[in-house]
Amino acid sequence: MYNEKVIDHFNHPRNVGELSDADGIGETGSFKCGDTMKLYIKVKDDRIEDVSFQTYGCGAAIASSSMLTEMVKGKKLDEAMQITNQDVADQLGGLPPLKLHCSNLAADALHNAIEDYRRKHDQV
Ligand code: FES
Repeated sequence: MYNEKVIDHFNHPRNVGELSDADGIGETGSFKCGDTMKLYIKVKDDRIEDVSFQTYGCGAAIASSSMLTEMVKGKKLDEAMQITNQDVADQLGGLPPLKLHCSNLAADALHNAIEDYRRKHDQV
């Protein structure tokens, strides 16, 4: 059902855990399945310096979060805001159609974390 890349990220997720000194935190959940995700970002000079996540979800959600953290590290906030769930799924080499909503969690959590950072730093 899952390709090797997805399985690798699921079995060995990157950047798991909480960033205690995070500048922005994004939370999201899926009504479809009840899974939730929390994403933490550390920002320096308008770039994502560090990122981590906690996901209580399926394998595709964990793999999507893990992949997303690799995609956004070092990116400018505006660039990171452009990342879509499809981008995450593409980077993973594709997800089964029934599991595409899982990658939404990762993209939404990222966007929420950036918005949280901007709110806290008067950038909105
Ligand atoms: Fe819930 Fe994948 S089934 S996030």
